[in-house]
Amino acid sequence: MRRPLVAGNWKMHGTCASIKQLLNELSAETLPNTIDIAVFPGLIHLQTAFAQVSDSVIAVGSQDCAVQLEEGAMTGETSALQLKDIGCSLVLVGHSERRQLQEESDRVICRKFIAAQAAGLTPVLCVGESLAEREAGQALATVQQQIDAVLVELGVEVLSQAVIAYEPIWAIGTGLTATPEQAQDIHAQIRAHIATYSASVAQELRIVYGGSVKAANAAELFAQADIDGGLVGGASLNAKEFGAICRAAGN
Ligand code: 13P
Repeated sequence: MRRPLVAGNWKMHGTCASIKQLLNELSAETLPNTIDIAVFPGLIHLQTAFAQVSDSVIAVGSQDCAVQLEEGAMTGETSALQLKDIGCSLVLVGHSERRQLQEESDRVICRKFIAAQAAGLTPVLCVGESLAEREAGQALATVQQQIDAVLVELGVEVLSQAVIAYEPIWAIGTGLTATPEQAQDIHAQIRAHIATYSASVAQELRIVYGGSVKAANAAELFAQADIDGGLVGGASLNAKEFGAICRAAGN
């Protein structure tokens, strides 16, 4: 049985005060102990977040890391070892907003994935197609290429210490959620693709869905056989909503 993961990606949102309040409110929610729960605050709010979650079940991760493992002359960057040092356990790599806004290539994402694992962080590899790619029937091919950039380069075993987040770009922040069937279809095909390299790695791998997940649609998405939780953007900024999404994964 794969243990579900529900994670909140807070993107470039919040102030020290609002992050504190959000985590306080989240701690007051009834959270299931049968799933893993994580939040990804902005870099400057990581310390604030750690202070708030110290005795809770909520893990804290970073939204990005540098391609280089060790500290060094990389202005503006934060290394995976530095993130580990302050207590992070997870890091997002390859979020579509970084692929698009920062022009991150599959090669750069692969290097970040390597750095994350070398530091002992669990990378959450984000993949997903654009609307144009979906309409051209290229959704699966796009996602497979993004996964293969890591899998073929590093070998399938690296996925036993990672999570994949399938986030169709057209569903991110748009309110247009993939239907449970659309999401399940891609998740199952991702798992089948990985199974051609290793059936056991594919079986154990958590593949979470992201893209306009909210309390109202979470249960239906998480009921799908190959959807092992969610990576939640906007709705994770509301403690009641995020708490309800966590409970949907715990049922
Ligand atoms: P939304 O839930 O706001 O659509 O964002 C999804 C996302 O990008 C999570 O990483």
